[in-house]
Amino acid sequence: MDSNDIAEKGTLPSDMNEKGPNLPLDTSESPVKTYTSWIPRIKTNRQQKVILALACVYYPFLAWSVYKGRTRVDLVNPAGTASVSDAYLEGLSGQGWSFTTMQDRIDQPTGEQGVFFSQSLDHEHHKGDKHKHGDHKHHRPPFRHITPSQAEEIFFKVPNNDSAAAEHMAGTGNDHLSALNLKAEWEAYLGLPYSAPYENVFEAGSAENQAAVRGLENATQSQVWVDTYYPIMNKPVSRSLDILLPEGNGLIEWSATLREDIVEGDPTSVLRDEVAVFHGLSVSGNVTAPILFVGYGTKRDFEDLERAGIDAKGTIVLVKYGKVFRGLKVKAAQEAGALGCLIYSDPGDDGEITIDNGYEVYPNGPARNPSSVQRGSVQFLSSYPGDPSTPGYPAYKNATRVEGGNQPSIPSLPISYADALPLLKTLEGKGKLAREVGQSGDWPGGLKDVEYFTGPSEKQVRFINEVDTKVTPIWNVFATIPGHIRDEVVVIGNHRDAWVLGGADPSSGTASVNEIMRGFSALLEKGWKPLRTIVVSSFDAEEMGLIGSTEWCEDFGDWLGKNVVAYLNVDVSVSGSNLGMSASPSLAHLMRHAAMQVEHPTDKNRSLWSMQDGGDWNTFNQEIKGLSADIDYEEMFASELKVKALGSGSDYTAFLQRYGVASTDMGYGFGPNDPVYHYHSIYDSYTWQEKYGDPGFHRHVAAAKVLGLMALRVANDIVLPLNISQYSLELSTYLEKVSSIAAGMGVTDQLDFAKLHENIIELQNASSALDNQAADALKRLSKLIPEVPHRRHGRHCKGVKGLWRKAVRLVKSALGIQGRPSHYEQKFQDPKGNALQTRARHHGKHPESGHKNKHGKGKHPHHGHKRPHMPMPDPKKVKAIKQVLLEIRAINQKLAHYESGFLSKEGLKDREWYLHKGTAPGKWLGYGATTFPALTEALTIEKSTSLAQKEANELAEMIGKMAERLHAA
Ligand SMILES: *[C@@H]1O[C@H](CO)[C@@H](O)[C@H](O)[C@H]1NC(C)=O
Ligand SMILES: *[C@@H]1O[C@H](CO)[C@@H](O)[C@H](O)[C@H]1NC(C)=O
Ligand SMILES: *[C@@H]1O[C@H](CO)[C@@H](O)[C@H](O)[C@H]1NC(C)=O
Repeated sequence: MDSNDIAEKGTLPSDMNEKGPNLPLDTSESPVKTYTSWIPRIKTNRQQKVILALACVYYPFLAWSVYKGRTRVDLVNPAGTASVSDAYLEGLSGQGWSFTTMQDRIDQPTGEQGVFFSQSLDHEHHKGDKHKHGDHKHHRPPFRHITPSQAEEIFFKVPNNDSAAAEHMAGTGNDHLSALNLKAEWEAYLGLPYSAPYENVFEAGSAENQAAVRGLENATQSQVWVDTYYPIMNKPVSRSLDILLPEGNGLIEWSATLREDIVEGDPTSVLRDEVAVFHGLSVSGNVTAPILFVGYGTKRDFEDLERAGIDAKGTIVLVKYGKVFRGLKVKAAQEAGALGCLIYSDPGDDGEITIDNGYEVYPNGPARNPSSVQRGSVQFLSSYPGDPSTPGYPAYKNATRVEGGNQPSIPSLPISYADALPLLKTLEGKGKLAREVGQSGDWPGGLKDVEYFTGPSEKQVRFINEVDTKVTPIWNVFATIPGHIRDEVVVIGNHRDAWVLGGADPSSGTASVNEIMRGFSALLEKGWKPLRTIVVSSFDAEEMGLIGSTEWCEDFGDWLGKNVVAYLNVDVSVSGSNLGMSASPSLAHLMRHAAMQVEHPTDKNRSLWSMQDGGDWNTFNQEIKGLSADIDYEEMFASELKVKALGSGSDYTAFLQRYGVASTDMGYGFGPNDPVYHYHSIYDSYTWQEKYGDPGFHRHVAAAKVLGLMALRVANDIVLPLNISQYSLELSTYLEKVSSIAAGMGVTDQLDFAKLHENIIELQNASSALDNQAADALKRLSKLIPEVPHRRHGRHCKGVKGLWRKAVRLVKSALGIQGRPSHYEQKFQDPKGNALQTRARHHGKHPESGHKNKHGKGKHPHHGHKRPHMPMPDPKKVKAIKQVLLEIRAINQKLAHYESGFLSKEGLKDREWYLHKGTAPGKWLGYGATTFPALTEALTIEKSTSLAQKEANELAEMIGKMAERLHAA
């Protein structure tokens, strides 16, 4: 164990820091850098604490690497990857599977035991490249890639010389720069030579870019590259919002600020104008009309308005953020005949933390700053995500473009509640009382100085939005780690673009992904090669409408369908205290188990998972009406495992909804007692995150650990950790939900779900048969190879903990962290009787034997070692093992392709881009999921039982086919 390397990187957990002067905690290269490279200025006095917290991330990786590498043995000629079972076998042999048990080794001590740990270090990844992280900052000043003019441009945009403070909205110079910087950072992590800024930056559609992805099937080397797509996007130009004097001569009574305040206490608030308040993909317009208040502006709110006898036609509607995706508010307004749409953040949706409850406003307190504005895309997300001009195919530079079908035709603008108040006041006494209109009684907001009326106003309001819409380049960044099996790929993704600074959105997620990259990096240095290939992606233009990920998926859809076994997404990893998890039901167990193995960020006696079982989670859904994050919790379907179904709103959408890749999404969201998260505002800043979001950054660490564990498991488990039995069981609940909707509508007797029900049961039987087959195959394998690490699903859970603990002990003792030698340390004596003291060896001294380290400090001590070879196993046994592995391969293929069984050719009604008939973003929800969407919406939206019956029949057939495929030999 090269503890010296690790210490130099400052990656040791706090209890490992009881070290001599040889183990300095190098803060210049601490994990906190990852964070500060995205968000400005971390205070030095905080640094230590943060380092300690973040450093813990490495612990599991470290343990894992040592544990996995503990019995590296050559089973077969590594070149022998001719068959898939050989690839598995190679993977197994690289990951601690061996023909000798640990017991064998204890009983037959040979010279090999002296290198028991070091075997895992002795690996081709060490070649040439040394001290990657330790040094690279010194060799590579962060601005090396930047042309002088770029540097100037950036410098002028940013009031201090910490470039990371810059906004990085998609398509801007800073966004481009952040892609190039990330490329360099990831190259460093993967031990690749640095490329020049123009190198490995590919045009989408070019041969190089195609080869980067499609060539993965033959790749043995990691690669990092940037791709460039060309979607249509907009930038803000100018805007105004005025109440006109009644005389009709255009004189202005009042003008909205349309700007967030520069506040003392949040230094980056001076950057408020870097991205003016506007709506992504909104259109230009100039309208003068009365104003009208329509609650949350949901489809139902507009229906209620109509029922109340008020016409939205010819008005400018004012609606609150919350409940549904903002673009669907504009869509509903547009369909109701409105000329413009204004959306504001009402403090009534801020939970307990309001001025009225005695809290001060940000930055002095946790309540919402009255000037804060939620920017955001008004794409018609549930029509289709991605570039408006290239639906269903990639936005290459020369792509044939169509008129955008997922963009509004009326102008819209986000405003603050400070700006909304005068508008609401002009409505007082006009039209109806807001509380008497909406069915759910949730139209009135939390502003105390006004009584909420619908209007329309007598006064005219003039609203101008001017945007510049054009084809704009965007940049996705990718890193690959080829595994032994290269046609089974796990993709981890996060977006990089932010509305302004993005303290939480997305930098918290980006920091978490970077921690994972650093974890992989540490593993690779230790000689790790995953069983499956890993792709890490940093998508661009997510904020504009999931554009980077959608275009990429549309480009490589066939490849995704064949090769990708899971997509793990993280967007905002921390914006509050509520750990939220959503997933394909097949991945729910994996998430749950990962969260169970990670400590609660502040209470070490609990697991992270216990947050979900404890109070605030369950009551949460009912307590909050319309969150700033726009999620309609009422409509989101949480399974018994408390992992919700995926709707849309982040980069998993194309993977799951169009290409049928099982996906997960996770992060800490805003809860009713949390400091108000200033979503998409200038105040979503480092200062907010440090002071209110996640003081100490514990949750960032926890999120990174959960995601990292999940990724490692999908990449390494012999049988894919996809629990399709769970998924099949969930389908019964989906059906119950539809049945209860039908019952609520009084149409149960017009529908026959018997066949659907029957086929769901058939799929459940087929799924559990496959699960049993997998368990049986693993059992047979473990008999052939005595050391199967048992650590999947509930039934193996006990074994996991034991092994995990063992691994931790091994690491600790190997590093000499605990005073007393462990059981293993005592057992593993080298022939001369010296205990294993790897740490001491690497530091030039052996405290017990007094050995001198031949290699000297700072060199790689293992280059001199020969890799040990165990006796070749009985060829018959190898054949039997290969047979089982082939069987497992076939099982894995079925598991990986289960989700795509839900894909239909024709797609969902009126939104054909969405192909998944198991789950989709609700047509009028956007973020929230609707399960069995075609069937459900045939009832709830189309109100047609004949359409519902047709959908139920098709679903039954689809599910029947899925069962057949599972049964097939
Ligand atoms: C991978 O290698 C195989 C065998 O050499 C070849 O047929 C195939 O075209 C290669 N794939 C790619 C994407 O280059
Ligand atoms: C907005 O429209 C009015 C009336 O048509 C016109 O006088 C005014 O110049 C327009 N303003 C802008 C900025 O286009
Ligand atoms: C775009 O360019 C690529 C090559 O760069 C070419 O293969 C493709 O046919 C072009 N597409 C169109 C629509 O012109």
